[in-house]
Amino acid sequence: MLKMLYQLPVETPAFIYEESRILAVAQAMAQAGRQSGCRMLYSIKALPFRPVLELLAPWVDGFSVSSLFEARLAAPIGHPLHITTPGLRLQEVAEIGTLCDFVAFNSLQQLARLQPTLGERTSIGLRVNPGLSFLDDCRYDPCRVDSKLGVPLQELVHALQQDCSLGELIKGLHFHTLFAAQSFEPMRRILILIEEMLGKTFLSRLQWINLGGGYLFESQGDLTSLSNLALDLRQRFGVDVYFEPGKALLGRAGCLVTAVIDCFRRNGKQVAVLDTSINHHPEIFEYQRRPEPGWTELEQGVAVILAGCTCLAGDVFGEYRVDRPLAVGDRLAFANVGAYSLIKANRFNGVNLPSVYFWDGAVGIKLIKRYNYEDYQTHWTL
Ligand SMILES: Cc1ncc(COP(=O)(O)O)c(C=O)c1O
Repeated sequence: MLKMLYQLPVETPAFIYEESRILAVAQAMAQAGRQSGCRMLYSIKALPFRPVLELLAPWVDGFSVSSLFEARLAAPIGHPLHITTPGLRLQEVAEIGTLCDFVAFNSLQQLARLQPTLGERTSIGLRVNPGLSFLDDCRYDPCRVDSKLGVPLQELVHALQQDCSLGELIKGLHFHTLFAAQSFEPMRRILILIEEMLGKTFLSRLQWINLGGGYLFESQGDLTSLSNLALDLRQRFGVDVYFEPGKALLGRAGCLVTAVIDCFRRNGKQVAVLDTSINHHPEIFEYQRRPEPGWTELEQGVAVILAGCTCLAGDVFGEYRVDRPLAVGDRLAFANVGAYSLIKANRFNGVNLPSVYFWDGAVGIKLIKRYNYEDYQTHWTL
C-alpha cells in the first residue's frame, strides 16, 4: 500500500494522511458512542490541524484541548470543548471560560485560585491521579512518582472531608493515565479504585466523568470493553461519560514520504541522506524508538544508514534494510507517524517543514498545506 505512495506526485518531504483511515476509526468510535452513550472527543494535541478537525467534526461529540490557543483554534467548529492542563494561567481563564464547556482543574490549588474567574458557562471538574501505574517508562507515565498530573485520590478524599462545599463545586472527574495502551483493562481497574476511594454517593452526585485518552484501537470491536465500562458508569451513577483519544485516530493514518538527496559510503556501508530530519518527528527520538519503515525489510536486503539532513551528528533515523542500494531521488516512507509528529516538528537548520497531503488511498491526493520561507521568516523576525 505504501509503495503506491512513492508513485504519487507529491513534493517531499510530505506528511500524507489517509482520510479513509482516519474516518474508519472515527466512525468506529461514533458507533461505539451510539451504542453505549459514551461521548467521543478528539484530543487535538495529537494534530491540531484545522482540516483534520473539520474532517472529524461530523463523527465526534467535541474536542479536548490543552491551552487557550488550542481552544481558539477548535472553537469556530462549534463543538463543545473540554480542557485540562497544568498550564492554566489567571490572565487566560476568563477567555477560556467563554470558549470551553468543561474544565478539569489539575490541582486543588489551581481550582481554588482560578475557578472564581471562570464564569458560569463552564462545568467544573477535577483531574484526579489514581496513582496506578501501567507503564514502565516514567517519561510518559502520568502516574509516575510525584506526578504533576492530577490530584492524588487520597488528597481528594481528605479535602472532601475537610470542606463539604468542595463536593458541591465539583461536577466532573477526569483521569488520563495511559500511553498507547492496547487493552481497556487498566481503565477498568482505575474505575474500581476510584469507586472504592471516593464512594458511590460522591460519584452519583457528579454530572460527568472523562476517561481521558492513551488507548490504541482501530475498529468498533476493539472498543467493546470501553462501551461496557461507559454503559455501566452511566447506569449506576447517572453520569455523562467522555473519552478523548488522539493518537488512535491519527497515528496509523499518517506517513512521512521522503527522498534521498545524497549517497556515499562509510566503513563499507551506504549512508543515504534524506530530505527530512529527525526534527520532523522528534517524539520518536525523544523516546528512542526506531521509526517504523513503510516497506518490508528483508534479511537479505542491503544495509543502509538513513540520515537526516541537518548538521546534528545524531540526526540519524538508523540502519535499515532495503531491496537495492539507494540512489539520489529514491523515495522512502516512514509509517505510523500521523500523531505527535507535525505538531512537534521544528525547522532546525532552516529545513522547511514537510508539506501536508490528504490521500484517498488510491490515486487521489490533495495538497492541504505547504509551508514556505515566509512562515520561517515570520517566526524568526520581529
Ligand atoms: C489529558 C489528555 N487527554 C487525552 C490525551 C490523548 O492521548 P492519546 O493521544 O495517547 O490518545 C492526552 C495525551 O497526552 C492527554 O494528556
